[in-house]
Amino acid sequence: MRKPIVVGNWKMNLDHLEATYCVQKLAWLLRDARFDYDSCEVVVLPPFTSIRSVGVLVDADKLKIGYGAQTVSVTTQGAFTGDVSADMLAALGCKYVIVGHSERRKYHPEDDATLVDQVRAILAADMQPILCVGESYDERKKGIELEYAVGQVNDITRDLSEDEASRMLVAYEPVWAIGTGMVATSRTAQDAAHAIRRHFADAFSQAVAERVRILYGGSVTSKNASQLMSEAHDMDGFLVGGASLDPEEFDKIVRLTQ
Ligand code: G3H
Repeated sequence: MRKPIVVGNWKMNLDHLEATYCVQKLAWLLRDARFDYDSCEVVVLPPFTSIRSVGVLVDADKLKIGYGAQTVSVTTQGAFTGDVSADMLAALGCKYVIVGHSERRKYHPEDDATLVDQVRAILAADMQPILCVGESYDERKKGIELEYAVGQVNDITRDLSEDEASRMLVAYEPVWAIGTGMVATSRTAQDAAHAIRRHFADAFSQAVAERVRILYGGSVTSKNASQLMSEAHDMDGFLVGGASLDPEEFDKIVRLTQ
């Protein structure tokens, strides 16, 4: 049985003081609503500079909110100015790291070989990769969106062992839906999640396919979360961007997902 999960990707927002406030407020809201953390995992991905502050708060208040990072270096240590290694993130208590977000693919030279190495680095440090895939508007217009997203999954995961593959999370994030307010329909999200899960069954095994968690991302809010989950046999939750910066909004999304 896969546990639902809602992940807030803060992108380049919230300094360490704002991050602490945001997590504290979220924890209060969930506590007031008597939220059952066994029913849904709650995770935030702050910028590097706020991870430590979030971790200290989580430890001090024994919060059940998980945290992670938005990217990682492919190297372990050394003269790589500005990079942060997987071991450094794991030492801070990170559990998840995003790989291949469309904004990283667009603004940074992250090709498939880099993404493969990032996945390996994350797994080797005992964290879990959240691999982002999804078509642009052009691929959708051509009607090749499912092949495109599944192809991206295959490009990055094909050399993994079954054990490694089963520790993956995949976020289906159509690029046209990210930060635009144009959310996918529940059918579109479910179809993509189904195609991705079927790929894991074909490429690895049914057992792997049943363990991989698949999320939808792209303009998720408290107004569309229930509808998005309404046909969600293969979707296990959300990767939320903008709406995760508002604790009240994020709290509602989490409670609609559990
Ligand atoms: O990582 C999150 C996605 O890019 C979605 O962002 O919810 O602001 O559309 P958004």
